[in-house]
Amino acid sequence: MNKSKCRIQLGWFEGTILLVVSGSSCRHIAEEMAEILNCEHHSLEARRFPDSEGYFRVPESSINKIRSNTVILVSNTFPDSCIVETLMLLEAIIDVRQGNLADIRGKGIDCEPIGPGIFLAIPYFGYSRQDKRFNQGEAVSARAIGMLLSSKCDGITVLDLHAPEVLEKLPVKISFASSMSEIATYLQSEINPDFILSPDKGAIERASFVAETIGCKFSYLEKTRIDAHTIVHKAKDLDVNGAIVTIVDDMISTGGTICRASEALREQGAKAVYAACSHGLFTGGAISKLDQFVDGIIASDSLKNPRSVVSSASALCRGINELIEK
Ligand code: R5P
Repeated sequence: MNKSKCRIQLGWFEGTILLVVSGSSCRHIAEEMAEILNCEHHSLEARRFPDSEGYFRVPESSINKIRSNTVILVSNTFPDSCIVETLMLLEAIIDVRQGNLADIRGKGIDCEPIGPGIFLAIPYFGYSRQDKRFNQGEAVSARAIGMLLSSKCDGITVLDLHAPEVLEKLPVKISFASSMSEIATYLQSEINPDFILSPDKGAIERASFVAETIGCKFSYLEKTRIDAHTIVHKAKDLDVNGAIVTIVDDMISTGGTICRASEALREQGAKAVYAACSHGLFTGGAISKLDQFVDGIIASDSLKNPRSVVSSASALCRGINELIEK
């Protein structure tokens, strides 16, 4: 993991006492964020009952710190169980900060509530692609989850959200973090691409930023998704003969988008093709499929996967910084 580029100016955080906490989903990122922010990391209790329901608790040893510091919970909303976990951890943190400390056994004494100061950092926001009512009667799931989370915290930062517009009108402060500069740095030092390709119009902003940062050529494809497993790219002449190309996207799920884009690049003479993304979901054997089409896969650590080589901690710290400064 390329931690050397992770340091950020502490900015707003100078003089502010922060505490980074996590449950079961993002401990590795939370620990690194605490290191960058020069503050403590505490693990919250998150485990499963035999019937799969969750149990969540602020450990006794963390209660004072949760009440006296600005708290940053780092938690994913993927898979579904992590949505419940994130909401319940926020609930437990709120309860502690409200001073609701007496339990049914008579242990602990209720005390004064303290003010706002709970922020949520989400490395991978699940349901981000259901960001519109594509068909009549559908739930706009991304917005629904955003609303649930915003009822339990004072601000949210999200890493490389598929379409940020869907969360722009939440009732709490929101900031959009991106790991694309860390991905660009990694690509430049490890792959040195001549050409960056966006596999569809939706990834143009991210991919062109990577191309500009590296200082190489850029283009995009026009993609039509027939169904979850079938992708068609419109034919387009790309100046990739003999080039090392990296396809940059926000996420890779089944790998279909990358495999089809790679085929188009090879047909036009690309010498090597790599794929880079923030969120490596890699569903249904995607990695072995991708290995037949690309020379390498680069992902951030927003989700645990065998190709995560770029840290998302620094980007999320920038997101929290922006949020608090707003
Ligand atoms: C969609 O527009 C996203 O940016 C990704 O391109 C897409 O989710 C990738 O999915 P898959 O790997 O299944 O093609």
